[in-house]
Amino acid sequence: MTADFTIRNATVIDGSGSPGFLADVSIEGDRISTVGDGQPAQVEIDAEGLVLTPGFIDTHSHDDGAFIRYPGMEFKLAQGVTTDISGNCGFSAAPNVPGEQPASGGALRFPGPWRDLAEYFAECEARRPAINNMMLAGHNTIRGWVMGNEQREPDAAEMAKMRAFVEQAMEQGACGFSTGLIYEPGRYSQTAEVVELASIAGRHGGLYATHMRNEGDQLFDAVEETLEIGKQAGCPVHISHHKAAGRKNWGRCAESLERVDRAVADGQDVTLDVYPYVAGSGPMHQYFDLDDINLELAEAIRIASCPDHREWEGRMLTDIAADEGIALDEAVRRAITGPKGAETICIQFTMDEQDVETNLRHPRVMIGSDGIPNLNGSPHPRLFGTFPRVLGHYVRERGVTTLEDAVRRMTSLPAERFGVPARGLVREGLIADLVLFDPASIRDLATWDDPRREPEGITAVFVSGQLAYDQGKHTGAGAGKMLRYRTG
Ligand code: CU
Ligand code: ZN
Repeated sequence: MTADFTIRNATVIDGSGSPGFLADVSIEGDRISTVGDGQPAQVEIDAEGLVLTPGFIDTHSHDDGAFIRYPGMEFKLAQGVTTDISGNCGFSAAPNVPGEQPASGGALRFPGPWRDLAEYFAECEARRPAINNMMLAGHNTIRGWVMGNEQREPDAAEMAKMRAFVEQAMEQGACGFSTGLIYEPGRYSQTAEVVELASIAGRHGGLYATHMRNEGDQLFDAVEETLEIGKQAGCPVHISHHKAAGRKNWGRCAESLERVDRAVADGQDVTLDVYPYVAGSGPMHQYFDLDDINLELAEAIRIASCPDHREWEGRMLTDIAADEGIALDEAVRRAITGPKGAETICIQFTMDEQDVETNLRHPRVMIGSDGIPNLNGSPHPRLFGTFPRVLGHYVRERGVTTLEDAVRRMTSLPAERFGVPARGLVREGLIADLVLFDPASIRDLATWDDPRREPEGITAVFVSGQLAYDQGKHTGAGAGKMLRYRTG
């Protein structure tokens, strides 16, 4: 039978972690039809010297709103990402109250007309997105709708409402429950509240994904809390963007990973993700207490996006303060207290290169961009560069792991972890989400000063059997799906 596509003579790295092998891969409809001898096809692609892998899964996305605003998802597709896990750090597009402002969320807010996950998915599908999306139910979002920014424990009625929101999201296909315990309003919750809500995800077979309560001086306490939540809630745990922030904590990722290894040896199911950069990024007002401004952090800050001071975008806060002739703490204040101060996004250079590599070597660590799809200003380059940066810089140049292992942790491992249906391996019968790239030249081009450059070395990306990205061009295929946990 004639296939739609046959990719000939590719080195297939199938996502399982086993060594690459030479084969032809054919695609019929949305499925991989053969792996081995290729079928005659409408379109034949000569892939000699190139590597064919499953499409990459970005385990840590904030693309809930991007699927509405930028359905072409160019910044992800050009990296070889075919599936996003969104709703991270406790912020998710659903549930939602149309027409109302949430109490918190700032730059991670996703306004829209939908009420629940099913309606949100329908809105996304109507826009024919280029890649797939799976969703977590976000604690900050849920708590914000139920009890605003209240700095207290929920009463019984509020708890019941929050439980119902998590339950509904899980029934509608969410893959788990996420927290961002460093952010408002999640930071006002006690461990028991999180356990109760995470256990609902657990009962549905989903996971608990967390931006932990602390990623700096109290990192180890935060890891203990996370493990305890997983144990009490009876669900698998996923630590988001594992890091040790702040100079005096540099190097501590190794010890934190040892703690995870001990938990795994004791029978607990724990995984993590990391982005391949020494800087983080997020809503700046969430990181500062105006009564006690952390100057060490302020020194490490670069402004990504600042609606009140567009001229500050792309500049270090120390340089801004010097130019304006103001003290550094005053610069912090001006960046986050203006009329649109809650929308300011910063980049903070708080991490150690060694910790990044330690993370990238660990077999349970996946790749999550944590990209914030605000294309104004000067965003963190991870939005455009994460996956090629791992494969080019960290695998090819630094040798932190093999190509096969890196691909496994971008494909089959997250597919299994997040319940991404029928994807994550190059196997006959699975959905044809595939990436074809040149292992000798793949690399990220997005930099701090030029953050929106698409990577090079990626030849083609298929989503559901359609050619979505072809030699540097977005085809506009729009074959992405809103995926329900484990079912499709
Ligand atoms: Cu995040
Ligand atoms: Zn986070």
